[in-house]
Amino acid sequence: MYSDFETISTYYDDLYVKDEEYAPEAAKVKELLSKHGIAPQSDLLILACGTGGHIPYFTDEYRVSGLDLSEDMLAMAENKFPNLPFHCGNLVDFDVKADFDAMICLYGSIGFVKTVANLRASMQRVAAQLRPNGIALITPWSTKEDFQECLVVDAVDEPDLKISRMEQVRLKEPDVVEVTFHHLIGQGTDVTYHQQSVEIGLFSRQDYLSAMTDAGLTVVEEYVGSDVRGGAYMGKRMVG
Ligand SMILES: C[S@@+](CC[C@H](N)C(=O)[O-])C[C@H]1O[C@@H](n2cnc3c(N)ncnc32)[C@H](O)[C@@H]1O
Repeated sequence: MYSDFETISTYYDDLYVKDEEYAPEAAKVKELLSKHGIAPQSDLLILACGTGGHIPYFTDEYRVSGLDLSEDMLAMAENKFPNLPFHCGNLVDFDVKADFDAMICLYGSIGFVKTVANLRASMQRVAAQLRPNGIALITPWSTKEDFQECLVVDAVDEPDLKISRMEQVRLKEPDVVEVTFHHLIGQGTDVTYHQQSVEIGLFSRQDYLSAMTDAGLTVVEEYVGSDVRGGAYMGKRMVG
């Protein structure tokens, strides 16, 4: 199936999954889920789970499943967590034939659905597969209100792997951001160059809120804090 992440998946963890970001983010998400009634041992689906970077921080408290569109990213996650259930599916139309107490979508991955129509379809799928009183927590990929073009620069310097990374983050259309990756990957004395552009939907705060409420979720919290990248919108499938 599709993958914008085919090449990147092989070094995704080295480049992006940093304990100093993932640990506090997961801790706050767990606190927010607990605050809104998600008990220990609840069923948690991590949407767009990627290589499973967040998974180790949640398995102590919940029964965790993962979903992602990229077989390459999922293969990395399955390799690390062979006892957990994973589903290959699209946020826009997924149907995992199971109900969950909570679903989370972190690190702005929802932006990859690209359009407001897809965002709305995705929230419909979330609401349909949440149990009564279940919670959805979505971290936006920036918002129209706070987006700023930028150039990201970072590096990995490990004995067996060196990566030099720049990413151009630019507005392509009023509702579409284009991120162009430039990665120089060094292994041994070889250096390869990977360039790739991906498009990400830029939605407004109201787009997120309406997508949740129109799907039948009651917005119970808009969290703003640097520990959760992008902040978080939380919707509850209220009973009665
Ligand atoms: C930036 S990565 C983040 C992965 C993970 N959430 C993390 O924080 O490490 C974005 C992920 O979204 C997945 N993705 C992109 N479009 C998707 C879609 N329409 N449905 C499901 N997953 C999608 C990609 O395959 C990738 O694994």
